[in-house]
Amino acid sequence: MQLKKYLWKTARIVEETADTITIVFDAKEPFGYKPGQFVNLTLEIDGERVTRSYSLSSYCEEDDSPAITIKLLRGGLMSSYILHNAHNIAEWEIEGPFGNFTPPEKDYSDTPVVLLAGGSGITPLMPIMRNVLAHGAKKLLLVFANKSMETIIFKEALTGFSDKRKFRLIHALSRQEIVSEDVLTGRLDAVVIKKTIKDYLDDQLNDALFFICGPEALMDLYKKAVSELGVEDAHILTEHFVIEENDNIPVSLKGLPDKTYEILLHYNEITNLVEVPPGMDIMTAAHADKIPIPFSCKNGTCGTCYGRVLKGEVKLLRNLALSDDHLKDGYTLLCQAHPLTEDVEIDVQR
Ligand code: FES
Repeated sequence: MQLKKYLWKTARIVEETADTITIVFDAKEPFGYKPGQFVNLTLEIDGERVTRSYSLSSYCEEDDSPAITIKLLRGGLMSSYILHNAHNIAEWEIEGPFGNFTPPEKDYSDTPVVLLAGGSGITPLMPIMRNVLAHGAKKLLLVFANKSMETIIFKEALTGFSDKRKFRLIHALSRQEIVSEDVLTGRLDAVVIKKTIKDYLDDQLNDALFFICGPEALMDLYKKAVSELGVEDAHILTEHFVIEENDNIPVSLKGLPDKTYEILLHYNEITNLVEVPPGMDIMTAAHADKIPIPFSCKNGTCGTCYGRVLKGEVKLLRNLALSDDHLKDGYTLLCQAHPLTEDVEIDVQR
């Protein structure tokens, strides 16, 4: 699957809630992506190029145009800019698609699916839900945590799907009391989550596939509950790209050669010889040489720093952005890549 840069115009803007909009793009040329994948969006804000990752909330097999859904984050530079200026943005610089939070391609008639979401974490889960339903899923549970009914993204669409396709939709509301068997109110804890899942799945727990996306703390809670039910890790898929910018994820540098390598790095039309000291990733080494490799998260999550290995071997420490197809095609993430051989040659085209 080719990673490319696109310049898209706006087809339309949909107001989802008071602080969330969906931008449907006029992509001009075909754009293939899988349910659950994301794109990187770059805009110039106050003279600076700013890049952020957004899940595609559209479903490639049924929707004509790709779309992303953006919620205003407190203190979020990009989301605040977009929410206030979306109608005036003439072109959207998009790269992707990235990510491997995608449902296995198969028939789902014998596989129960459980989606555990919180807030804007619903955006990748929406196309995943549509995909598994389109591929035969008969048993599907969505537990969706929000503050109140007014803050629920895709509320009408979800209710419509659940009525039509007979899947179980349970809202968990932290700041609103509603008496209903479809609503959990008050503090959501592992006990409540486990009971909700067990009541729904009954004896099919071991056959089920779980997809989790939302704020980190909520994801940890969901993951803990599901693991305590005895579900194997292989049946639990999580999406981590919604993380704080200053999130430092420690990675073990063990297993890396204790020597300096000189690698060949093509950046657009310029070829550079870059010295990469032991333990340093290729992007940091390139930046030290004033080669402006684009980046955003610096922890293997967003995919902004991707490049293609033309020769030699690199070790990729952490990858939450590139799919297996990307890896097979030689793509790597320079913020997480370390040379392993003397002949490493990498191409970065933007
Ligand atoms: S900068 Fe985000 S994956 Fe490298």
